[in-house]
Amino acid sequence: MGDLVVRRAARLRGRPALPGDKSISHRALLLALLAPGESRITAAGDGEDVRSTAGVVRALGATVERLAEHDGRVDYRIVSPGGSALAEPEAVLDCGNSGTTTRLVAGLLAGRPLFAVLDGDASLRRRPMGRVVEPLRAMGASFAGRRGATLLPLAVTGCAAPQPIDYPTPVPSAQVKSAILLAALAAHGETRVTEAVATRDHTERMLRTRGVSVTEATFGDGRHEVRLRGPSTVEAVDETVPSDPSGAAFWLVAGAIHPDAELVLEGVSTNPTRRAIIDILRRMGADIEERDRPAPDGADGEPLADLVVRSSRLRAVDLGPSEVAAAIDEIPVLCLAAAAADGTTRIRGAGELRHKESDRIAGIAAGLTALGARVRVEGDDIEIDGGRRLVGAVTETLDDHRLAMTFAVAGLLAEGETTVLRPESAAISYPGFFRELEGVRA
Ligand code: S3P
Repeated sequence: MGDLVVRRAARLRGRPALPGDKSISHRALLLALLAPGESRITAAGDGEDVRSTAGVVRALGATVERLAEHDGRVDYRIVSPGGSALAEPEAVLDCGNSGTTTRLVAGLLAGRPLFAVLDGDASLRRRPMGRVVEPLRAMGASFAGRRGATLLPLAVTGCAAPQPIDYPTPVPSAQVKSAILLAALAAHGETRVTEAVATRDHTERMLRTRGVSVTEATFGDGRHEVRLRGPSTVEAVDETVPSDPSGAAFWLVAGAIHPDAELVLEGVSTNPTRRAIIDILRRMGADIEERDRPAPDGADGEPLADLVVRSSRLRAVDLGPSEVAAAIDEIPVLCLAAAAADGTTRIRGAGELRHKESDRIAGIAAGLTALGARVRVEGDDIEIDGGRRLVGAVTETLDDHRLAMTFAVAGLLAEGETTVLRPESAAISYPGFFRELEGVRA
């Protein structure tokens, strides 16, 4: 696809089709690999990241059948010999652009007596892997790779009987927590992971649905611990994947900042560990109506809602490190909301954004500045003076899906034409996003 030109829209209306939740889709595939027998996954995300996980699941010995495709989603049927009978992969496991695939698979492999090599694209080869290698080594797995095995490509030799560990994570990361929990399934004894703030809890919910006992506790200072006693087998279940709140975020911001908008987002997970974007936008004054919706069978108890967002007058907000962690994937598009809000928004402690698919602090600052916003970056803090008129410009996506979609949404509001360079990365998490973008122009 060539560069994308987005013109200002007069009105926004409609029900954009949303992708299946990416975090849940990855986990549903990996847990289907660990569960002996047949698992069905309905309405999974069909972005390139989830396809990377499906490829790894196949390479480790399961059959993965794509039963049907609909609205950028896919239904899978997976038949696996189970975690104790995984195949040693013959070739390098290609994780593409997906950090979640890499880190969760590293954990899964750490607890199995196999040799494998994980690799990915240029962006993934720059991302820090030491954060999973360190605890997984403490559990008994061996890793080899560049710079002390902190970067891909990474060779993993897992072990049949990993050690349980008691691990306080140095950065709040659901990927790190999940990697340790997947290794802990094979360990004899109790593993405990403690986080400074609770990160997304899909792994915990999904393990419980599959017969694994996982307990959690939150302390007065916000710390959160998860315990899993191994060894434990994973049962095959059928799963229906909710709509991705991180995909919905682009429409929530589009609807809130556009002067004539009403958009409906169906079946979005409002899981307390994922809904920060809704609550932060509401605090900024966004008109977001939440209509609870019964969850289908096999939705792991994820609360669901239809969200209706309407044009709103937004005001600036102050966000600290724990809110940044809770809305980590939504911060780029929240910066766009801040650019359209009255007052100065301050986002403190956003350093993790530098370790995503691109340096998202640099990327968002450059793109919004090109569009006429006033953005200051000091270390890991971002300040945005809102209320300035956005004017169409050329924006650089750094091949990062969340930047590509943020600048495309900015184009709906900015005067004239906004050019989004190399926009195709949107398909990493949201295939069909640009079709929906055309569709909402009433
Ligand atoms: C994810 C966790 C987050 C998030 C990523 C998906 C997951 O990463 O940014 O898009 O599915 O566990 P970190 O755990 O590195 O913060």
